[in-house]
Amino acid sequence: MKAITVDPARRTLALLDAPEPALSAPTQAKLRMLEVGVCGTDKEICAFEYGTPPAGSAYLILGHESLAEVAQVGDRVGNLKPGDLVVTMVRRPCAHVHCRPCRSGRQDYCVTGDFVERGIKGQHGFMSEWVVDDAQYMVPVPRALRDIGVLVEPLTIAEKALEQVAAIQRRLPWEGDHTALVLGAGPVGLLGAMALRAAGYRVFVYSLEAAPNPKADVTAQIGATYVSATTHDMAALRETIGQIDLVFEATGAPQLSFDAARILGANGVFVLSGVPGHKPPITFDAGALMRGMVLQNQVLVGTVNAGRASFEAAIRDLGRFMERWPEAVRDLITGRFPATGYEALLQGRAGGIKNVITM
Ligand code: BGC
Repeated sequence: MKAITVDPARRTLALLDAPEPALSAPTQAKLRMLEVGVCGTDKEICAFEYGTPPAGSAYLILGHESLAEVAQVGDRVGNLKPGDLVVTMVRRPCAHVHCRPCRSGRQDYCVTGDFVERGIKGQHGFMSEWVVDDAQYMVPVPRALRDIGVLVEPLTIAEKALEQVAAIQRRLPWEGDHTALVLGAGPVGLLGAMALRAAGYRVFVYSLEAAPNPKADVTAQIGATYVSATTHDMAALRETIGQIDLVFEATGAPQLSFDAARILGANGVFVLSGVPGHKPPITFDAGALMRGMVLQNQVLVGTVNAGRASFEAAIRDLGRFMERWPEAVRDLITGRFPATGYEALLQGRAGGIKNVITM
């Protein structure tokens, strides 16, 4: 079968003919891959910054944002049948008996670091024609979401962030309006902005690019406000917004993030979701940050990957987004390409918001 692969030792990418996987346990299902999204993580793997092939393989099949159709199920798979649409979760548990998160099915909170991630670390990903996995990692997606179901996985990052914010803010037992600042207008930022709008927040999206541009258009369509760094520095941003209750960071940019931490309001939560590359250190006023955090009960929280509940929440929310803002959701997918276009998408400077490979 066709598969898009990276060989980290030889620093090469290839569209190759890989062995087709087959069911090897009665709890597994075989999937026909429909679409796979390309994200920053894939590009970093293709810049050879990280990425680990499965044991015994020189190459790693890429891809972790997927939408697939069930082709075959093992005898002990009760919740899926051929023809169903599914999104497959990314992370698999580590093997350590003492890792309580992994032993509780919450490998997104793994404490040992020995987890496996499909398409990233130790197991093949989804940029291939066929995939076999245990059905417990597959989450059913309604047919109505066929066109945009590939956005589920990036949305889970924002959903898990919001679950953590809800848990933290249970400490504030009063009602009121809330304002969120989203840093970054990539797919995770814009999907996060949609989730925040759906949850009733007043939302500002802060991004490098000058408006008008397609990201600013999506922002306007969902009733949020786009602010560009070309016209507003942090002080002007704070002036425009007023009290900021939540910052959702989706840039992976350390300087911008810690500058923005300084404009977080009292009792606010700052969520970091971007993974910065290894670059020279930055300088910031840690004393001012600490003073602000202590004197204003602020919380800084990091979030990675997502559990099943976040996948289910993402599927429910995408359905809601499609009722409210069908065009804005569709506009997030700016390009669909055949597998042969892999080099330009993974190593070139392909623009747009979310590019998708049709398997
Ligand atoms: C994926 C996460 C994953 C993370 C770190 C992200 O691109 O969406 O599921 O845990 O990369 O590898």
